[in-house]
Amino acid sequence: MSIQTKKYDKKVTITTIQNLKGKEPITMVTAYDALFANLFDGSVEMILVGDSLNMSFLGKSDTLSATLPQMIYHTQAVCNGAKKSLVVLDMPFGSYNTAEDALNSAVQVYQESEASAVKIEGGKDRAHIIKHLTSNSIAVMGHIGLMPQFVRSEGGYKVRRDDNQLQELIDDAKAIEEAGAFAIVIEGVRDDIAKAITEAISIPTIGIGAGVDTDGQVLVWSDMFGFFEEFKPKFVKHYLQGASLVKEGLENYVDEVKNRQFPSREYIY
Ligand code: KIV
Repeated sequence: MSIQTKKYDKKVTITTIQNLKGKEPITMVTAYDALFANLFDGSVEMILVGDSLNMSFLGKSDTLSATLPQMIYHTQAVCNGAKKSLVVLDMPFGSYNTAEDALNSAVQVYQESEASAVKIEGGKDRAHIIKHLTSNSIAVMGHIGLMPQFVRSEGGYKVRRDDNQLQELIDDAKAIEEAGAFAIVIEGVRDDIAKAITEAISIPTIGIGAGVDTDGQVLVWSDMFGFFEEFKPKFVKHYLQGASLVKEGLENYVDEVKNRQFPSREYIY
């Protein structure tokens, strides 16, 4: 694909996503504003307004303090920039503790933003919540495996790599599928376990740190483009050296201003 070519010139729907299972890997990236959403729009099937923004953009140490109004605000911005890729809002911690809370939160999301779907962390214990949403016309993406919103209750980010976790994860995925979710994120799961989950269900799986055999992949944009320098998780590939590029540009600007080279004649009215 050349840099100019966008894959989609029409809005991607959940049907588009579901039809890709078994045919073509699905791409999803995060975005938190209109500028980057517009750059990504139409080239990836889905844009996730992840609660990861609480870490990568707010500088917090985990995602737990993100709020629904913040997520809606960023989703409004992303939807202003993205008209083709399907936009998913990540429901923040505490916004879907009960089925009723979840529905109130999701209705607010649909009323105040143009998000096509919401994402919810949790396995079979939360299937009844997903069912309540899908039976009230909300499109839901599940999220199983390593779930960042459980970091404090689980005492860290725990990759699922043990054989004895396989059946539980398959049961989680099946319960979420039965509850009507259109896709499931599988995060931090040994690759062969993620493959087995993917084969056990008929909705697409989107992996992050889950190997190559899921139906699609998702990465946090500031990680994949090398803007976040403090730490690189094993599953992150840098497709750009973003931080170095920005620092170099900034250094040139500072030099030119200090030396009165900028603004030169061409930048003056
Ligand atoms: O918040 C987020 O960006 C996510 C992805 C890592 C899947 O949940």
